[in-house]
Amino acid sequence: MGLKPAMRQALSLTLLAWVLGACAQEQAAQATAVEAEQAPDTADSRYGFERPSRDGIGKIYMGREISHVMGHLGAGWLERPEREREERTDLLVENLPLAPDDVIADIGAGTGYFSFRMAQRVPEGKVLAVDIQPEMLDIIEARKAETGLGNVTAVLGNERDPGLAECSVDLALLVDAYHEFSYPFEMGRAIARALKPGGKLVLIEYRGEDPRVPIKRLHKMTEQQSQTEMQAAGLSWVETLDVLPQQHFMVFQRDEACAAGAAAES
Ligand SMILES: C[S@@+](CC[C@H](N)C(=O)[O-])C[C@H]1O[C@@H](n2cnc3c(N)ncnc32)[C@H](O)[C@@H]1O
Repeated sequence: MGLKPAMRQALSLTLLAWVLGACAQEQAAQATAVEAEQAPDTADSRYGFERPSRDGIGKIYMGREISHVMGHLGAGWLERPEREREERTDLLVENLPLAPDDVIADIGAGTGYFSFRMAQRVPEGKVLAVDIQPEMLDIIEARKAETGLGNVTAVLGNERDPGLAECSVDLALLVDAYHEFSYPFEMGRAIARALKPGGKLVLIEYRGEDPRVPIKRLHKMTEQQSQTEMQAAGLSWVETLDVLPQQHFMVFQRDEACAAGAAAES
């Protein structure tokens, strides 16, 4: 016996509703799983998440997707002989505002390429070479033994904190590293707190505005984006030097006084 048209239509609608309901439940379950996985970050509305692009981690800060960290197997690239000519790393070091007794933090130091060059300019001071990869710190320790430059100290930081004492640093240098920080806000605040009042953060990033710079998109930053993010960390922009062929040389400063009990070293 055939079903009446009205009954057939009702059954079809019920079936459709069941299928749609099941799909919605499946989607909700997937969304809950993703949320649970990202719980520590989604609790903090600073970060967004999307499907990762090829060079990124899918985590968004102030409209910018954060890039992958360059692994320690890329150490050879950081030390390539042509780097000085291509990036004019000599000019980079020359233009840093350094005094002989300064305390410098080289954050995301990698192999210590800049740490050891700066160490020679602060014979009465010291360089804290911070990285999150122990393999990079091993390279720095080996180089320290080889060069005899005793004023470089390797410091193991973590993704959110470079582990620097409050109000202890005259200059923080970040070369080609900040765009990799998976917690840029937390790192920015921690670095700002580690600076002495008037202390400088020099941020070096490949120019995101310049298509001629042959570097992957997420490994570059625009000046505007950099300024917005440094301001969010509590630092004020001082100047941008036009001295490097491929990178911005951006100088920021801590204006805040130190909290009581966190006396700045002289
Ligand atoms: C592309 S390398 C640049 C190294 C060095 N500044 C140079 O220019 O030769 C970036 C480095 O930043 C480090 N890094 C990434 N996230 C970090 C974080 N949250 N704190 C400290 N170092 C970090 C990586 O482990 C890597 O060694």
